[in-house]
Amino acid sequence: MKVMSVFGTRPEAVKMCPLVRELEACTEIESVVCLTGQHREMLWQVVDLFGIEVKYNLDVMLPRQTLTTITTRVLSKIETVLQSEKPDIVLVHGDTTTSFVAALAAFYQQIPVGHVEAGLRTYDRYSPFPEEMNRCLTGRIAALHFAPTENNRINLERENISKGVFVTGNTVIDAFKTTVKEKYNYKDSILQKIDFTGKRCILMTAHRRENLGAPLISIFKAVKRIVETFSDIEVIYPVHMNPAIHDTAEKILGNSEHIYLIPPLDVADMHNLISRSSLVLTDSGGLQEEAPACGIPVLVLRTETERPEAVTAGTVRIAGVEEERIYQETVRLLTDTEDYNRMAKAINPYGDGHASERIVQHILEWKRSIV
Ligand code: UD1
Ligand code: UDP
Repeated sequence: MKVMSVFGTRPEAVKMCPLVRELEACTEIESVVCLTGQHREMLWQVVDLFGIEVKYNLDVMLPRQTLTTITTRVLSKIETVLQSEKPDIVLVHGDTTTSFVAALAAFYQQIPVGHVEAGLRTYDRYSPFPEEMNRCLTGRIAALHFAPTENNRINLERENISKGVFVTGNTVIDAFKTTVKEKYNYKDSILQKIDFTGKRCILMTAHRRENLGAPLISIFKAVKRIVETFSDIEVIYPVHMNPAIHDTAEKILGNSEHIYLIPPLDVADMHNLISRSSLVLTDSGGLQEEAPACGIPVLVLRTETERPEAVTAGTVRIAGVEEERIYQETVRLLTDTEDYNRMAKAINPYGDGHASERIVQHILEWKRSIV
């Protein structure tokens, strides 16, 4: 049985590499990896770390690319790969444009699609944009749906998708379990030099398309006020390579003494930094799963989340994208020990680190059921 995994951005790589390793280890499966290259440096940082074998790289990334250029370049370049490899199933992940377009291209070749991290929803088609629509459309195409949580399965059921749905946990926990170490030496030279003694570290990331422009400016202004208010706070911000983000970050935060703007971290550095931070401020999806797994409170720099499990459990809180609210929510956590301790509890609704094994078993069973 030939299984082709297609992915192209950093978060897909973090969550697909553990699965690819599991596919590679299965003697009944021939595993083929096709990267779209929607990301470049940030993708290879992950792929190199996990050491998986890549057969195809469509290398589609362009500086300041648009949704249309990603879509058209992936769609046209992947066609010949699918036609020559003829996989039994194509696996895609989550909600990126790579995932949706790869699923569409597989459908055009009448190749079944397995959707990893299926069933996440905000029910707002423009937030996150375009991810909410990408995952809905991928869900319509897919034959197999690997839902991280029961809540995700119920979301699919609401859309009359109940066949081929399996609750597996999230493969991000599989990845996290291999990267986080009790004793860890950072590879990043700036992290190596920062003296964390007597300081509290806020880890921050921001990249969502709907946050570009005014929301991002508000977020950055709030963070600047935080370091001006608290002398024991260091903010570490690995800045996404999107020039629209990079330029704004440099302009507003570039001269702040206690804010470290650093290049994207390799995922082992990142996961270990998360586990050693006091607080995470982020609009990322993945960080909302990783930080709760090690009891680090998360303030979400968005107006909604498709990951309500950790909000319900109390370790993730929506802080929105307005300067004053983000500032106040952060101040509250930094000054109110009781509130902080209530949030800082390790909960992990996203699985036990064996999601990849389950997904491989479901794929094998599916294959047996159709021959
Ligand atoms: C993409 C995904 C988003 C995901 C995010 C993870 C879509 C529409 N968006 O958004 O769902 O959360 O990845 O990070 O699928 N760049 C580089 N080098 C890299 C990566 C990016 O230079 O390795 C720059 C390029 O100028 C590129 C820009 O960043 O044009 C934006 O990349 P793109 O993939 O279009 O958008 P993201 O915001 O990264
Ligand atoms: N990540 C990383 N280095 C960084 C920033 C993030 O390795 O500098 C990891 C992070 O730990 C998580 C994934 O990348 O596993 C999340 O990616 P991102 O925030 O870009 O996308 P999202 O999860 O929002 O789709």
